Amino acid sequence: MCGIIGLIKLNESDSAIKDIVNGLRRLEYRGYDSWGYAALNGTNILLEKKIGRISEPSLNGQSAILIGHTRWATHGGVDEANAHPHLDCNGQIAVVHNGIIENYLELRERLIKEGHTFKSQTDSEVVSHLFEKEQGSLFDRAKRIAPLLKGSFSLVVISAAHKDEIVAIKNESPLAIGIADNEIIFASDPLAFIDKTNTTIFLTEGDIAFAKKTNNKISFEFFNYILNKSVDKEQIKLNWNASETNLGDYKHYMLKEIIEQPKVMQDGIDFDSAESLANEMRGKKVIAIACGTARHSAVIGKHIFHKIAKFSLDVMMAHEFVYFVDDLDKNTVILAVSQSGETADVMECVRKAKQRGIKVISIVNVPSSTLARESEKVFYTNCGPEIAVASTKAFSNQILAFYLIAHALQGNLKSQIINIKSVIDLLSQNMSYFDLKAREIAEYLKNKNHVYMLGRGVNFPIALEGALKLKEISYIHAEGMPAGELKHGTLALIEHGTPVILLCPTDYTYYDSISNGLETKARGAYLIGISDKPHPSFNMWVQLPQLDKENEIFYPLIETIPLQLIAYHTAVLLGRDVDKPRNLAKSVTVK
Ligand code: F6R
Repeated sequence: MCGIIGLIKLNESDSAIKDIVNGLRRLEYRGYDSWGYAALNGTNILLEKKIGRISEPSLNGQSAILIGHTRWATHGGVDEANAHPHLDCNGQIAVVHNGIIENYLELRERLIKEGHTFKSQTDSEVVSHLFEKEQGSLFDRAKRIAPLLKGSFSLVVISAAHKDEIVAIKNESPLAIGIADNEIIFASDPLAFIDKTNTTIFLTEGDIAFAKKTNNKISFEFFNYILNKSVDKEQIKLNWNASETNLGDYKHYMLKEIIEQPKVMQDGIDFDSAESLANEMRGKKVIAIACGTARHSAVIGKHIFHKIAKFSLDVMMAHEFVYFVDDLDKNTVILAVSQSGETADVMECVRKAKQRGIKVISIVNVPSSTLARESEKVFYTNCGPEIAVASTKAFSNQILAFYLIAHALQGNLKSQIINIKSVIDLLSQNMSYFDLKAREIAEYLKNKNHVYMLGRGVNFPIALEGALKLKEISYIHAEGMPAGELKHGTLALIEHGTPVILLCPTDYTYYDSISNGLETKARGAYLIGISDKPHPSFNMWVQLPQLDKENEIFYPLIETIPLQLIAYHTAVLLGRDVDKPRNLAKSVTVK
């Protein structure tokens, strides 16, 4: 987690500090405990660090070389001392870091013995002291320091004694370079500079990038410390539209991203990628690995694959799968599912699997992500940037990808697309109604401490997802469960007025789900039915459009949306920070 940014401009300007903070705002989704920046100003380093969300910078001064950081705390509490940038003993060198330096304790102890004074508890601060200790240009120093560091890190470093230089090091944590007119930007995500340029270089493991102002231009050089040689890097043009990141008239990104789902689903239909992934899967043992919401989509995918193509898909949480990866046989294909394509737990499995010669394919949203670049074949969900921390549209398009791949496996993709499109149309027609009902339900839920969501078969992972959405943004405890499991223990928690949301479209699970709903009702539950059919036991009902028997497997594309809206409106009623819920970050780049 954490977002880092570095900037080198050809000419000093008064607005450079504002520029770095604006770039940092676009990375705030990566962490928002605290933030800070450092700017070279003559022979000084101007430094400001603050706790909480990014606000206006309070320092002024001309600068052409700056770094910035937005933090999601790992080592050391949330306070100004632990916020980045970190300085050396003399305040001459400033460093921002994303990732974890695993051997920082031993480096720190050695540096303290040598007389260095540390001001923070972070793993990152060792880097500024290591740069202080070395001699030569920032490039030379970086080449000697990088091999000493273990773990995941992207770093950007500036120094008051090197007033025309900036250096960056990348290992495992992402780092991109944006090349704009008269300035170069280093950032954890191109989102930070996409308003300025779409010409980008992605650094790969072991890269050191050095930029310097000479003869009225900025030149740059690359060295890979793992290969121990200079390297050339390819510049690519990102096919991104900066306007996609605008909030428009919406109050929150999450609402915007929920409402735009029918359009985004249309954009997510990709026959070629579906066929291509299906070709990689046929005859293989396929294991989907993912975390959080992406894993829920994969569990839905398991049901979809079974129902549509009689294809068995294993699904595992990436952070648990890592304990199995050493024993995989060569007939296995890993299907990694991720919105960001940067989740550390997923990437660890991917790398370990690849080392064993196992093929990795993926379903990813961010085209420039590490996962996309390291996978053999990719299905891009094509949602555009998802800014709210709670994932919504990426989830829907991941499910869509599973439908398309399942039909490709079954060999009837083209003939089925009309059905999928008509389901998307139905969703579009029902969006305002879902929003209205979600507001009513949120009024009931807002004062509750516990909410249960139940479903069977393909509806069970939707219950998991609905509960995750509710708890992460409203902070109400919510549990998603297979409806059949309730009576094996959790039923003990149902008492008068306990909200139970029952996902029971009239599909193959309907009658059993209704029975389980009635069991909760008999114990006092307040039953909220999500179904195309009314039932006398429902205290509240969200009416789904009815799908034909042959299309019942597509209910997930529709029934998830009311749950997303219920979570959203409950959080709004409770005054929560909807787009940036506490303790979380969008891109989980630590294990
Ligand atoms: C919840 C949420 C997370 C992510 C998880 C994996 O709303 O967004 O649970 O789904 O952190 O992230 P990605 O998909 O980027 O690998």
